[in-house]
Amino acid sequence: MMTNQNSSMTVPKFREAKSAGRKLAVVTAFDSFSGRVAEAAGVDAVLVGDSLAMVVQGHETTLQVTLDEMIYHARMTRRAVTNPLLIVDMPFPTYHVSTEQAITNAARVVQETGCQAVKIEGGVRRADRIKALVQEGIPVMGHVGLTPQDVHAMGGYNVQRDRAKLLEDARAVEESGAFSVVLECIPTGLAAEITESLSIPTIGIGAGPQCDGQVLVFHDMLGMGEDRPPKHARRYADLSQTATEAVQRYAEDVRSGGFPDERESFAN
Ligand code: KIV
Repeated sequence: MMTNQNSSMTVPKFREAKSAGRKLAVVTAFDSFSGRVAEAAGVDAVLVGDSLAMVVQGHETTLQVTLDEMIYHARMTRRAVTNPLLIVDMPFPTYHVSTEQAITNAARVVQETGCQAVKIEGGVRRADRIKALVQEGIPVMGHVGLTPQDVHAMGGYNVQRDRAKLLEDARAVEESGAFSVVLECIPTGLAAEITESLSIPTIGIGAGPQCDGQVLVFHDMLGMGEDRPPKHARRYADLSQTATEAVQRYAEDVRSGGFPDERESFAN
């Protein structure tokens, strides 16, 4: 079993990886199985992402998952994750109404799941929320670029290219006190410029190799999702295919009388 070089990752250690020149590996997890895999693989952080609405719950967007459901999945994940930092996504619209709403809901997530940090989407427009949470002792990971909770306003899951806006959003996240920021679907050169201009780590997804770390969705990297994964996802395994073939073999064995045999049966 591989171990995390930095066992028991903390928010300060995660932030300091940037100045130490150490790249950060982050993966999503949604339950104790995926959490166990992430733990054994020795990643730096595990994100219980609201992408679970799509890859686990089968919704079209991330907008449908509720706070209670995020907490349910994060609690399952927590039981398996000890060493990596555990971060939980605040789902739509649990921080959109007011800073009070954001604090109440984020505090609930921290208290009920045992996570060390929350993630919220948006830059300049979320600066007051990030500040308020940080002030209350709740570490925040920001998220700029393609923000999936804005899918309808953005007209789809498109690459974001507005240089001035992206730089301003990323700076606002840093200035508000976030300990790191996800850059999603931003051209390589622009993501490199943002990374260079910030002192907190940038964690890229579809934002090129020059970010301070990378995050992938568990189901995308293991081939557990759609037939065509997003362009930015590298598929490291094809578990859907492996699982389908295994279940097919089982069904054939049942129909042919090959399962169970004496090894799976109890003697009289
Ligand atoms: O929900 C999620 O999985 C995310 C990552 C794609 C960063 O926000």
